Amino acid sequence: MKIAVVLGTRPEIIKMAPLIKIYKNNRADFFLLHTGQHYTYQMDKVFFDQLELPHPQYNIDIGSSSQAEQTGKMLIGIEKIFLKEKPAIALVEGDTNSVLAGALAAAKLGIQVGHVEAGLRSYDRTMPEELNRMLTDHLSDYLFAPTSKAKKILLGEGINKNKVFVTGNTVVDAVFQNLELAKKGKDVLKALKLKPGQYFLVTLHRQENVDNPSRFDSILRGLSQIVIDYNLPIVYPIHPRSRKMMDEFRLRPKNLTIIEPVDFLSFLQLESSAKLILTDSGGVQEESCILGVPCVTIRDNTERPETLEAGANILAGSSSERIVECVGIMLKKKKKWPNPFGDGKAAERIVKIITEAGNG
Ligand code: UD1
Ligand code: UDP
Repeated sequence: MKIAVVLGTRPEIIKMAPLIKIYKNNRADFFLLHTGQHYTYQMDKVFFDQLELPHPQYNIDIGSSSQAEQTGKMLIGIEKIFLKEKPAIALVEGDTNSVLAGALAAAKLGIQVGHVEAGLRSYDRTMPEELNRMLTDHLSDYLFAPTSKAKKILLGEGINKNKVFVTGNTVVDAVFQNLELAKKGKDVLKALKLKPGQYFLVTLHRQENVDNPSRFDSILRGLSQIVIDYNLPIVYPIHPRSRKMMDEFRLRPKNLTIIEPVDFLSFLQLESSAKLILTDSGGVQEESCILGVPCVTIRDNTERPETLEAGANILAGSSSERIVECVGIMLKKKKKWPNPFGDGKAAERIVKIITEAGNG
C-alpha cells in the first residue's frame, strides 16, 4: 500500500524527518510530495541535505502568495499527483497551508489521511494555522495526538476515539536523534562569538506579530531593552517573512545580532546553550521545553499549553514592558521540568499504527 508524505515548510521537514527515515530504512512504498511553500535554501533544502532525507519525488513549486491562492494552487497540484500515484494514505504534519491542502486533496479523492501532531488548539481563529489544524483534524482518519491533552481536545470535538492515537511529538525524536550530532558539529557559538549561557536566542515570524508594524516595533523595543538590562547579546536568525516586513516597515533594531536562518544542527546548538529563548514559533516552544531552556513566548495564546504547565514557558504578548518582565520571571524559576512531549519514539509508533492498519 503506497504512502504519500506531503510537506512544504521548515517545521514539517524537521518533524517528518524521523518518520521518513523509518520508511526509507524499511524500503517502504512511499513518496515525498513537496508543495514548495518554503523554497529558499536555508528554509528548505538545507534540511534535506543535513538530515539525509531522500529528494522529494515531486515538488509542485507553489511558492509564496496569499492564503487562498497558495492553498488553492496546492490543492490543484497535489490532486494531479494523487490521481497518478493513487496512494492509500497521505500523511501530513502540523498546521500550515501545505497540511490543509494535502489533507483536503486526499480526503476528496477517498485517500485516507493521517495527521501527525493532531489536536492542538490555540482557540484563536484569526490565526491561519488554527483553521488549518481544525479542518485537517476533521478530515483525518488517523489522528496522531502528541499528548493526552491533545487527545482530549479531539474527543471533545466529537472525533471518534478509535481514530485518535497518543504517540508523543516527533519533534522529540528529531531532537534526540540530532542533539549529539549538533554538539559535535561546527561550533556555531564560536563563529558568532557567543559564550554558553551568556546570550539570548530569538525567533519571530508569526503573521500576527511581524505583519503588524506597531506590534513588531513594540516587540523589537522589548528585545533591545533586554540587551541593555542584561548586557548580553540577542541572536535572531531571521525568518524571510520577518526580514521582508522589517524592511517594509523600515524597522532598524539597533543592538540585535540578526543572522540568516540557520540549519537544524546549528539551531539546536544555539537553543541548547542559550540563557533563555524568546519566540513565537510552535516548534521552538517545544524544543526549549525538551532541552530544559526557559522560554518566553511572544504571543497572546499558545496551542502548546503543556509547556506552560511544565513551568518551561510563559506567555508575554507583544508589549515591550511585559516581554522584559517575563524574561525576569523565567530567569528566577528553577530550570527543571518534565518533558511532556514523549520519549522520542513517536515516529516508530506512528509507522506501526499505519502498518498494522494495512497501509505500508
Ligand atoms: C508558514 C506557515 C506557518 C509556519 C511557518 C514556518 C501558513 C499559513 N503559515 O509561515 O504556520 O509557522 O511557515 O516557518 O502555512 N519566504 C521566503 N522564502 C521561503 C519561504 C517564504 O522568502 O522559502 C518569504 C516570502 O516573502 C513569503 C513569506 O516569507 O511571502 C511568508 O511565507 P509563507 O510560506 O506564506 O508563510 P510563513 O510565514 O513562512
Ligand atoms: N529552526 C531552524 N533554524 C532556524 C530557526 C528554526 O532549524 O534558524 C527550526 C527549529 O529548530 C524548529 C523549526 O525550525 O524545529 C521551527 O520552525 P518555525 O519556527 O519556522 O515554524 P513553527 O514551528 O512555528 O511552525
